[in-house]
Order: sequence, then C-alpha cells, then structure tokens
Amino acid sequence: MHTLFPILEQDTPYLNHAAVGPWPRVTAEAVQAFADENMRHGSANYFKWLEREQELREMLARLSGAPSADDIALLKNTTECISAVAWGLDWQPGDNVVLPAGEFPSNRLPWLAQSARGVTAREVDIRAAEDAEGALIDAMDSDTRLLTVSSVQWADGFRLDLERLGAACRERGVLFFVDAIQQLGALPIDVEACQADFLAADAHKWLLAPEGIAVFFCREEVRPRLQLLQQGWHMVDRFWDFDRTEWPVSKTALRFEAGTPNSTGQAALHASAGLLLEFGIDRVSAAILNNTDRLMTELPRIDGICLHSRTEPARRSGIVSFRHDSIAPATLYQGLKDRGISCALREGNVRVSPHFYQGERELSVFLESLAHIV
Ligand SMILES: Cc1ncc(COP(=O)(O)O)c(C=O)c1O
Repeated sequence: MHTLFPILEQDTPYLNHAAVGPWPRVTAEAVQAFADENMRHGSANYFKWLEREQELREMLARLSGAPSADDIALLKNTTECISAVAWGLDWQPGDNVVLPAGEFPSNRLPWLAQSARGVTAREVDIRAAEDAEGALIDAMDSDTRLLTVSSVQWADGFRLDLERLGAACRERGVLFFVDAIQQLGALPIDVEACQADFLAADAHKWLLAPEGIAVFFCREEVRPRLQLLQQGWHMVDRFWDFDRTEWPVSKTALRFEAGTPNSTGQAALHASAGLLLEFGIDRVSAAILNNTDRLMTELPRIDGICLHSRTEPARRSGIVSFRHDSIAPATLYQGLKDRGISCALREGNVRVSPHFYQGERELSVFLESLAHIV
C-alpha cells in the first residue's frame, strides 16, 4: 500500500478524504506524464486523449451504475452539475423542491435561488425525524418537481436509503437528484437500483483525483427536459470535425460540456478511477466500513468523547464525527492538528474520514493522539 499511496509514509495519518483526497502514486504519475507529453509534443496525440476520455466515461458509468457512458458528462464541480439541473428545469410558479436541512451549500443554494422563479425549497430536518426517508417522502406533494439529497451527509456522514427515496420519487413522477460526492469512490452506488435521474460528484474527495473535474450522470429520458445553460463547439457529436456548417447538440450527456475539457484532470481521474475499479469498490467499501466500525467502537471509550455520527449500520459511511463533553471542538481539532493529524472541524464537531488504504496503524496513531489530548 505504501508504494501505491505515498501519503502513508507520513508518521501521522491523513484522515480528511471528506475534504480533499490525496492522490495515489499512479495519479501523480499520470499527471507528470501528461505534463511531459504536452511539453514535448503539444496536442499531437489528441486522438489518444479522446480515447482516454471515452474510457474514463465508461469507468465512471461502471462506478455509478449508469446504463451507458453516454449518460456521463465531465463537468467542473458539483455546483456546476447541480446548477445545470436547477437552472435548466422548466419550473412553474408554485412548484417545490424537497431537500434535507443542512445540505452542503452546493446542494442548497442553487435550489433556493429558484425562488426567483416562484419555486419553494422545503428543507426537512431529517435528523429530528425518527424515519429520515419517510420525512422526506412526506414533505412531497403534488407540486413537488424534484427531491435532492446528498447520499452521505457532509458533516456527520449520515447515509440515506437511496432506493427507498428513488422508488417514492418514481411513483410520484418526481425527479431525483443525488449529490454523491461523499459516496462515489467509497461505497457502492447504483443509479439504476435507486432510480436516480441525476448524480453529481467531484473527483477530489473519495475518488482520489484533483479538484476541477466532476462526474455528472443525467438519465437519457430526462436530458431533453433540461434547457442548456451554455452553448459551444464541444457539445456536439464528433466535435473535432470543424468542416461542417451545422452544430446539432449531442443527444448524449456531452451536451452539458460546452467548451474545452479539463484534459489534465481527465488523465488524473482516469488513473484514480482505474485503481479503485481494479481494487474493487466492494473491497474498498468493506475496508472503509471496517475503519468506521473501529472508530465508532473505540472513540466513545476515550474519556469525555461523544460520537456525533449515527451508529446504526444503515447510516454509516466513511465519515465519523465526534466532540468532547468539556473541551471546545476548536481546541480538540487544534490539538490533533498540532500532532500532525489531518481532519476537519465541521458544524461544531471534529470529522475524520479515512479511506480504504488506511487501517490498523493510522487509526491507532489517531486514537492514541486523541487520548493524549483529552
Ligand atoms: C455534500 C457536498 N456537496 C458538494 C460539495 C462540493 O461542491 P463543489 O464541487 O461545488 O465545490 C461538498 C464538499 O465538501 C460536499 O460535501
């Protein structure tokens, strides 16, 4: 693992994949090779870049369960994916969109902004509800056009039952958007099984690739319902063919990619996604949930530490958050940081998020450091 993940050479663990994931060696090497190629040959091998891009779409379709690589667009970030839907839909005044309260701003602000078009955002407190999915479903009525959720919540890792939500949406003719940034690359997800119409995720967290590239799944049947926000040369089939007078918009998800893509990001994500697929997402997920299990067992044994994340197996993910009953969260966080541990402070809790390639040693160093601080 140390060869594949040089970050493991550090004495102290990096437990912050829910923020930004470190690159595996193959990813850094792919970027270095692409830099070298650009430096020496410019775009002489452009058609090879296109082949890699197509392979990448296929890999992302496999990771997300998308029926076809044609359903995958490579956009810049989650906000751009969400905005393509929030601003692209033909809302009618009086429509509403349902979402959990406390969503990350990227999955909140674009929906709230639709108030300018007469759309109400219904924010549901899923943590106060005994049945989180039931509360979201109950909040839908005949004016609901779309339900949007982060499949794993950013601050505490609370995981939602996507299949139940998707089935309820389909039954009511409501569109279903999944922000999967805290799940894709960590836990299996299947847009077919959960009947999602849209899925979005950046590459820079659990997918272990750079910032600035994101996957956007858009179901074939709903694509024509979205008005396109940008127009450009790249959103047509065979966009490299400049000897044409007509530029008909592609029927595939390429229609969302108006201009020149992030080819460096593609080279990197191709390497990272390849590694995750090679390892197998089931093995990745088992290792992550094993880490979560250990954290959830051992953290409460440390004096004064209380878990904030929910412990029921169905709610677990790669994120565990906690606090201390008397030490301020910022002090706790700073104490860990001073000991070289990368984690995050989110909504008054310390958040740790180890990935599959970490385990026994990294968690022990973290738990021992924490025990020293309190
Ligand atoms: C649930 C969730 N959505 C979206 C984002 C990031 O959004 P964007 O890609 O637009 O920066 C994050 C980042 O932490 C997140 O946790």
